[in-house]
Amino acid sequence: MARPKIALIGAGQIGGTLAHLAAIKELGDVVLFDIAEGTPQGKALDIAQSGPSEGFDAVMKGANSYEDIAGADVCIVTAGVPRKPGMSRDDLIGINLKVMKSVGEGIKAHAPNAFVICITNPLDAMVWALQQFSGLPPEKVVGMAGVLDSARFRHFLSVEFNVSMRDVTAFVLGGHGDTMVPLVRYSTVAGIPLPDLVQMGWTSQEKLDQIVQRTRDGGAEIVGLLKTGSAYYAPATSAIEMAEAYLKDQKRLLPCAAWVDGAFGLDGMYVGVPTIIGAGGIEKVVDIKLNADEQAMFDKSVDAVKGLVAACKGIEPSLA
Ligand code: APR
Repeated sequence: MARPKIALIGAGQIGGTLAHLAAIKELGDVVLFDIAEGTPQGKALDIAQSGPSEGFDAVMKGANSYEDIAGADVCIVTAGVPRKPGMSRDDLIGINLKVMKSVGEGIKAHAPNAFVICITNPLDAMVWALQQFSGLPPEKVVGMAGVLDSARFRHFLSVEFNVSMRDVTAFVLGGHGDTMVPLVRYSTVAGIPLPDLVQMGWTSQEKLDQIVQRTRDGGAEIVGLLKTGSAYYAPATSAIEMAEAYLKDQKRLLPCAAWVDGAFGLDGMYVGVPTIIGAGGIEKVVDIKLNADEQAMFDKSVDAVKGLVAACKGIEPSLA
């Protein structure tokens, strides 16, 4: 059987890391696409040359033409600009919306059967715009945010509890922004919910609140340290986890920015919710019960996403 084809739209920091991870994990042959000439070709060649030592079999190709993504099974989109210190993800909306238009049209023309994972920020609005511009079925267009936000939460919790990150599960829902909703009640260490761990005296409510806030600010903390761009190792790893779930029909239950119509009382919009990813793309949105506090936080986050979508419609009349 031929190897799957993975198209990476955007060959910057995240795109290059995605390509390297896809190669190491032998998920398929990789096409790195970018408008910058030379960058995708240089990165493809560099990663290909890591193959003999790493021992992977995957063709790596750099491209500046959408024709090269033809027939891709998975497209991961990072095209656009990242934020700089002092910027919020929402500040990127005008420029990245234009980028989504060209990327969506490119995917529509050349890879209409792909599972598309958007990483470009502001995430929830950009994945919506990408679905609109590409015209692909909503279950095949998804945003990467919850896996990353949950990974950040899990990392901070593992440090606090001094336990393996593998034994910490966590759920972060809502939009990928300041209003994201880390769900403490549904997060556990080896199955023990965080509120129980507070009661057991393993941590304090105050420390837990600090970790929740640090999770919300997780991206900004890294932007502040890097100064020239935003995070890329963990975002790339998170998207690869989603791509692998699709390519291997793993039925993983992962929080993603998915099209929600009916579940969570929502009337058709993209926002971070628990989903099952398998060969059908987003096969299910898992409609978990929220308590009153969680629902209030989720509603606030939903409103923030709606505001961004409205701003997109104001900028690009064809979306209205
Ligand atoms: N088509 C294709 N590629 C484009 C386009 C376009 N219209 N516009 C810009 N690009 C490319 C740039 O040339 C660059 O190589 O997108 C790449 C973006 O890479 P970086 O600037 O390194 O950004 P990165 O850190 O990879 O983040 C990309 O993901 O997390 C989000 O907020 C982040 O929106 C940003 C995106």
